[in-house]
Amino acid sequence: MTAELKIEGLRVSVAGKEVLKGFDLTMGAGEVHVIMGPNGSGKSTLAHALAGHPGYQVLDGSVTLNGVDLLSLSPSDRARHGLLLALQQPLEVPGVRPYDVMAAAGAPLDGLRERMIDEAERVVLRPELLERFLNVDLSGGERKRAEMVQLGTLRPQFAMLDEIDSGLDVDALSAVARRLQAATTEWGCGVLAITHFSRLLQELTPTVIHVVSAGRVVATGGPEMADILERDGYEPFRDLARA
Ligand SMILES: Nc1ncnc2c1ncn2[C@@H]1O[C@H](COP(=O)(O)OP(=O)(O)OP(=O)(O)O)[C@@H](O)[C@H]1O
Ligand SMILES: [Mg+2]
Repeated sequence: MTAELKIEGLRVSVAGKEVLKGFDLTMGAGEVHVIMGPNGSGKSTLAHALAGHPGYQVLDGSVTLNGVDLLSLSPSDRARHGLLLALQQPLEVPGVRPYDVMAAAGAPLDGLRERMIDEAERVVLRPELLERFLNVDLSGGERKRAEMVQLGTLRPQFAMLDEIDSGLDVDALSAVARRLQAATTEWGCGVLAITHFSRLLQELTPTVIHVVSAGRVVATGGPEMADILERDGYEPFRDLARA
């Protein structure tokens, strides 16, 4: 069976307010799906809901990975089933080192440190930064690169990355885009990337771009959608959100 991540009719409330209002998205192995949408439209809420964050209440809908109901699993079991999430604001975890996180997530220990160093170099991250506690004392861009080390080391079936490009310098941006593109062929990783900028998509070719407004996908298109959004902004899509 080919891998499939399926989100259907997902409704999620945060602090008593419904933010996701029937979100649908289906993707397969090796595909690149990109979510673009205005600030506050619910993109990170989707990432938090998929992560199983306790503050995000699922009201309705389903999320399945290869037919398995993800929402009934604990956050760590979601990871074990092959979903990796890189949040918009990576958490600092004092006392825990990246190596321990990889080991706990089930990465084979044989050659683990070497693989992490190799992955760090691929995204232009100084490997010695991996010796620090997770994300502690790292710059914003370094944290994003450290998330990519997790992706390359754990090789998840699906990876959802919330603004992985924010705060990256141009060299890192290019390296991260190329690493993600390579992941789609190296092990058929399905990439679900939230971004505001088409620059990421110069070296990461989207299979589908989803435009999100007011908690729902209001339009989908191919790579050309990024240019349309850059030119026209989100205003033309707002009426679709109200419909
Ligand atoms: N923990 C929270 N408590 C209260 N409101 C929240 C919380 N998290 C999100 N919201 C609200 O939910 C809405 C959607 O937020 P979300 O972070 O999903 O937006 P986004 O699409 O990721 O925006 P951005 O492009 O700015 O990252 C916003 O109106 C936000 O204020
Ligand atoms: Mg966000």
